[in-house]
Amino acid sequence: MSERLAPLISARRIGRRVAELARQIEADHCGAPLTLVVVLKGATVFAADLMRQIAIPFVIDFVRASSYRDRTRSSGTVLIRDQSGLDVRGHRVILVEDIVDTGLTIASMIAELRKLEPASLDVCALLHKRVAGATAVDIRYKGFDVPDVFVVGYGMDYAERYRNLSGISRLVPAGR
Ligand code: IMP
Ligand code: MG
Repeated sequence: MSERLAPLISARRIGRRVAELARQIEADHCGAPLTLVVVLKGATVFAADLMRQIAIPFVIDFVRASSYRDRTRSSGTVLIRDQSGLDVRGHRVILVEDIVDTGLTIASMIAELRKLEPASLDVCALLHKRVAGATAVDIRYKGFDVPDVFVVGYGMDYAERYRNLSGISRLVPAGR
């Protein structure tokens, strides 16, 4: 593989934005039982930073969804797993996601989580990719808008690689 990386968002910028998102979440959820539902695996790095910035009590849980497999284009199928033990009835839930692309994954997750009757359900996504024909998703807590390119780093992968980068880069395919 000879793809290369082009830096897009630095670790410092991410850090600053994550702190701002945490302040917003604190202000909106003071006094109500709050659960952060983290979408595995890509959102784990973001969630780890976000949760350390949130100063009000909350519970953390995880769900797994995958639509990409080892490709850089959405396959259109979303698998949702590891959700059976989730107990969020009456809780204010924030779904923590790395990136909303076509919106398919988050829309499926929202539909599934609604069945568990949370008191409220909001989306916190670090990135929102602007793609034509995407499912409209209301992202209450959004880190950054990014163009329609494939990005890696800060938890996000290409075929399981690059999750460990502290900033976010664009993956430039070989030969471009
Ligand atoms: P969607 O269902 O098309 O919105 O895709 C969302 C999921 O695909 C995210 O949770 C990511 O795991 C993955 N994804 C989408 N775009 C990218 C990208 O540019 N880099 C890495 N993963 C991505
Ligand atoms: Mg994901």
